[in-house]
Amino acid sequence: MTSLTIVHPDDWHIHLRDGAALNRTVNDVATWARRAVVMPNLSPPVKTVADATSYHKRIMNALTDGVQFEPLITLYLTDSTSEQDILDAAASDIVCGVKLYPAGATTNSAAGVTALDSLKPTLAAMEASDLPLLIHGEVTDPEVDVFDRERLFIERTLAPLSEAFPQLRIILEHITTADAVDFVNGAREGIAATITPQHLLYDRNDMLVGGIRPHLFCLPILKRRDHKEALRKAATSGNPRFFIGTDSAPHTRETKETDCGCAGCYSAHAAIPLYAEVFEEENALDRLEGFTSLFGADFYQRPRNQGTMTLIREETSVPNELTFGDSVVVPLRAGASVRWRVGARS
Ligand code: DOR
Ligand code: ZN
Repeated sequence: MTSLTIVHPDDWHIHLRDGAALNRTVNDVATWARRAVVMPNLSPPVKTVADATSYHKRIMNALTDGVQFEPLITLYLTDSTSEQDILDAAASDIVCGVKLYPAGATTNSAAGVTALDSLKPTLAAMEASDLPLLIHGEVTDPEVDVFDRERLFIERTLAPLSEAFPQLRIILEHITTADAVDFVNGAREGIAATITPQHLLYDRNDMLVGGIRPHLFCLPILKRRDHKEALRKAATSGNPRFFIGTDSAPHTRETKETDCGCAGCYSAHAAIPLYAEVFEEENALDRLEGFTSLFGADFYQRPRNQGTMTLIREETSVPNELTFGDSVVVPLRAGASVRWRVGARS
């Protein structure tokens, strides 16, 4: 196959950051996504509809004139998010969900939730107003090995939560394990998961054998190869519970290549070509469209995109680094190539 035309994709999980970074992040994702679900882990976080409204404005100001792109903002769940915050969010056109970060789990999560039990009224308000909950699914218990944190979160927190709020729509973000695949496959209705390109393409050997590759370090951390295989099977299965969410998250070279490096991979420059490689390798290119362009819209109860995108099968090189204000970001596949590129869009 030399080209493939699909319904125009979206990205259901991305970090755009703020300030000068927006000029790059927003315009990179807008080269291939019509909509993106934007994470709220700024500092300070996006906690209210007022915060979301001003962030939305800053994103739109950074977008090149004439480009069609709709950011869907998420609110950051904290120990003090109120029922009124939820009612306001549910009534807002620009807020599409609320993100749960267990406090300390990842980048800018210090303001995250420390006691989910005390948020029952808030979660009940989300369930009643049908506002989706997006979850970073890792326990933060220091006793738990970093490779087990997702599996134990599902067992200890997610499984009981999904039963306690049976109508609450939940997206388990950036899943990394066969355990997460099994949970989502067997879960009640209203439970879905996003999958990143890095978790489909790489495993922990790629990150750690022969030397540490800090640009592959993200959270949840890359797991063993058999988990990657389970994720590839889920993504290419055609099951609408699994859909695109790149988790593209820029960190500058100096904050990754240091004695305590940041977590995050930047993929907004080439996300669709990277996913296309996986689907091609799995002989499932006919299922790419569902994953990138249909299932997420359906789950979020938003219209499917009208336009199309054509992918061309052509080896395309990725630069060693991308300019980010005064610094640079080393993107996924830096200095190498991807087998597809984005062609015509309508
Ligand atoms: O690797 C990650 N980077 N995982 C996250 O959960 C957050 C993200 C970021 O904000 O950099
Ligand atoms: Zn993320």
